[in-house]
Amino acid sequence: MINPLAKDLNDTLSGTVVDALMSDMGRRLYFPNGIISQGGEAAKDAHFANGTIGMAVAAGTPIELDSYKKNMPSLTPRETVAYAKTAGNPDLRALWKEKIIAKNPSLKNKQFSLPILVPGLTAVLSYVSDLFVDVDKPLLAADPCWDNYELIAAARRGAEFHQFKCFENGKFNIADLEAKMKADAEKYGSVRVILNFPQNPSGYSPTVSEAKEIVRIVRELAEAGKKVLVLSDDAYFGLNYEDDIEPQSLFAYMADLHENVLAIKADGPTKEDFAWGFRAGFVTFASKGLTDAQYTALVTKFMAAIRSSVSCSSTPSQSLVMHALKDEAHEKQKLECRNMLKRRYDLVRAFVNNHKSDVLEPLPFNSGYFMSFHVKSGKAEEIRKELLKSEGIGIIQIDPYTLRVAFSSIDEDKIDSVYTSIYNVAKNF
Ligand SMILES: Cc1ncc(COP(=O)(O)O)c(C=O)c1O
Repeated sequence: MINPLAKDLNDTLSGTVVDALMSDMGRRLYFPNGIISQGGEAAKDAHFANGTIGMAVAAGTPIELDSYKKNMPSLTPRETVAYAKTAGNPDLRALWKEKIIAKNPSLKNKQFSLPILVPGLTAVLSYVSDLFVDVDKPLLAADPCWDNYELIAAARRGAEFHQFKCFENGKFNIADLEAKMKADAEKYGSVRVILNFPQNPSGYSPTVSEAKEIVRIVRELAEAGKKVLVLSDDAYFGLNYEDDIEPQSLFAYMADLHENVLAIKADGPTKEDFAWGFRAGFVTFASKGLTDAQYTALVTKFMAAIRSSVSCSSTPSQSLVMHALKDEAHEKQKLECRNMLKRRYDLVRAFVNNHKSDVLEPLPFNSGYFMSFHVKSGKAEEIRKELLKSEGIGIIQIDPYTLRVAFSSIDEDKIDSVYTSIYNVAKNF
């Protein structure tokens, strides 16, 4: 099925030489009318506050850790202009693996691959899809979710994009996740699911008991003979603001769950280490019983996907991440930024707990960069436009029933006014 936006572009190009030469994927590609284009509108008109951006911004400028800044002028030529290895700097890959274990202690004695470095988490998702998603191998994700998942699965890979309803009655919807995974398993014999926590756009992470339930679903499918690929998108890992959240990545539990489970972890410094523009992300594989030779073969396949697209990632950003990770001050600086986000979260939490709206209902949130509202009237776009026009406030419409606010990019002293305006404007829609 072709996306209507792709159809518009194809119609415009109809009869041209471009049209005559285009591939199937070329025909399917479109630019989502979503986060990037709404962010562009906000950049022009959000003069009061811009809550569209998935970065941590303070007083209008992205925060920059000193652990990066101080090394910028002192890098050697090998750390800047030299080609990087296809799978990334081996020392950085080894160091990132150590960090993964430190952040997820259950992985301590488990087998898993060395992380491979690619240009950002988006590249992880795209390459994983190149290897595992196609016309009769659908991808399952949450609804709502980050709009790039559908673009990658459906437009790039020509696959069906399936979704489970992420929330029901103010709770994470384990039942629908299970139903949709079972449905895919029945129809295709295998399941490919992407689970993203803290989630974009809701800002939700599962509690310890919900994480156990997710693991149970995967285990039961695997024990019933179904092959299950679980891709954990951990872009916002560690930004947890409540005590009952499962502290480890689901990858830590999937890694040795069953021979029928392929666990894949997408993570990286982009959000977690506040380095959005570095374009560095990691992919790590685990499956019970894979031999070393089989891990090497899988990593080699993945390297082929890198080699045949961007060849390798950028060297300077790898060098900067490497220096920063070895710098004792880095964790402390990260913690200061995390605390800043937590203070913003606390203010948003207090606001939504103390205000009622007939139109807006906050989706569950406890972590990450964002929170979202369910818009009962289905008029999310109208509310977004009015907020931008009359209040100079930019937020994102994910779909007609979902508005996303990036509190990561709203200063503490503006949160009360921004949310007051959102509630006031929503009253009219
Ligand atoms: C859930 C999620 N995954 C992946 C990414 C992509 O990260 P990167 O900038 O490293 O490609 C984003 C970015 O917004 C995201 O929100």
